[in-house]
Amino acid sequence: MSKQRILIARAMFPEVIDKLAVHFEVESNQEDAPWSQEEFAKHLADKQGVFTTGSDRIDAALLSACPHLKICANMAVGYNNFDIAAMTAAGVLGTNAPGVLNETTADFGFALLMAAARRVSESEHWLRAGQWDRWRYDLFAGTDIHGSTLGIIGMGRIGQGIARRGAHGFGMQVIYHNRSQLDAATEAECKARYVGKEELLRSADHVVLVVPYTPESRHTIGAAELAMMKPTATLVNVARGGIVDDAALAAALREKRIAAAGLDVFEGEPSVHPDLLTVPNVVLTPHIASASNATRLAMANLAADNLIGFLIHGKPLTPLNLEAMASKTASAP
Ligand code: GLV
Repeated sequence: MSKQRILIARAMFPEVIDKLAVHFEVESNQEDAPWSQEEFAKHLADKQGVFTTGSDRIDAALLSACPHLKICANMAVGYNNFDIAAMTAAGVLGTNAPGVLNETTADFGFALLMAAARRVSESEHWLRAGQWDRWRYDLFAGTDIHGSTLGIIGMGRIGQGIARRGAHGFGMQVIYHNRSQLDAATEAECKARYVGKEELLRSADHVVLVVPYTPESRHTIGAAELAMMKPTATLVNVARGGIVDDAALAAALREKRIAAAGLDVFEGEPSVHPDLLTVPNVVLTPHIASASNATRLAMANLAADNLIGFLIHGKPLTPLNLEAMASKTASAP
């Protein structure tokens, strides 16, 4: 029997390509060519499966050009690049890569928080520009992390990792806001207290965002929310671009209405709002919160195992819309 065909939409670890090639006829975009949606559809038209990253969009137009497609395996925990309703309607399974990146991403959330609040990037740029000629009592004085109040919006597994680091490592008081309150045991483990969003914004010294992107979570932080924050506060976004109104944030940073920010994700990335590029009190990184070598490999292996699990064994590991697909089949006339 001939092998099923899959596409790897972006450059990928050679060992993961080799593992997939044992089971499938593999086409891979190893040169990382930036495909338009039309080019993507052409490469995918005869494939049963696709390995995607969070920057590869699966939408109704693409699906209609790919009649053989059965599964899209995302090498990301977030999947706002998938139109899940269109995929379910087309009978295409989506999978994501949860679990394996929690601690690495929580580490990075903390790295951004520390770098922003203690002005690490800003002072390094200044030093490299040759401006350091003497010690001063107030040189790049920032805001303390230890003993301060950490507000986390989005208390899933990554948010909980950030809470544990803050509470146990830095003696922070942790407050959080989430769609639903966590059970008492998890709250105790994270030493975290549930509060309303407004209370969180008004009382936190540092606010970290870890909510998934949905139409409802768009601009969770806009001008009104920024106005509630302390002028000494730090804002960190390791969630998704669009959770923060980047133009409003740049204005708040420029006018020192909040002290600092650390951003790993942006509205319209890889473009970055030009105003963010000119304000000094923001640390900017190119969507690398999960990018340790070990974690990126684990994410890639999980996406590959979802393709093998589903197309070869009929059992995906981390499906997103399996139940929706089953109920659609059950209710079909
Ligand atoms: C990264 O942004 C992810 O969703 O895994």
